Amino acid sequence: MNAFKEIFIMNTGDDATFDILFEKALLGYNNAYVPYSNFKVGASMLLDDGKIYYGCNVENSSYGLCNCAERTTLFKAYSEGIRKENIKAFLVIGNTNRPISPCGACRQVMTELLTLDTPVYLTNLEKKTYKVTVKDLLPYNFNGEDL
Ligand code: THU
Repeated sequence: MNAFKEIFIMNTGDDATFDILFEKALLGYNNAYVPYSNFKVGASMLLDDGKIYYGCNVENSSYGLCNCAERTTLFKAYSEGIRKENIKAFLVIGNTNRPISPCGACRQVMTELLTLDTPVYLTNLEKKTYKVTVKDLLPYNFNGEDL
């Protein structure tokens, strides 16, 4: 049973946010440094001033040090002073049959560095897409209030 069945959308070019994020995430995707997995991932996000950040996965011969595209993108932006209130939408792309599905570590980071209602497009090279929110990706998330 596909839990995302109800929120599956095909993009036909009528979603300008998707279109611009898709284009930029592809730039990240093509920059992916993946000599070990050969599995490229790109991510992008739109800010309230129209600026777009994008990133990719960056691997390492010490496998545990690999960084996913989602976290690369978020850390790039945060390191320049961007905060969750400025981020309007997020997109992840991979060469998968179904829309790509972020790993658990990225979901945890996304719940802290994005607002829970931020729209997230999960897509693939064919633009098969799920449009969800951060909260959909990690319900009952651990957060700073638990500390
Ligand atoms: N990866 C991402 O960058 N994002 C995801 O959503 C899934 C996995 C990366 C990590 C690693 O470089 C490669 O894909 C294979 O797991």
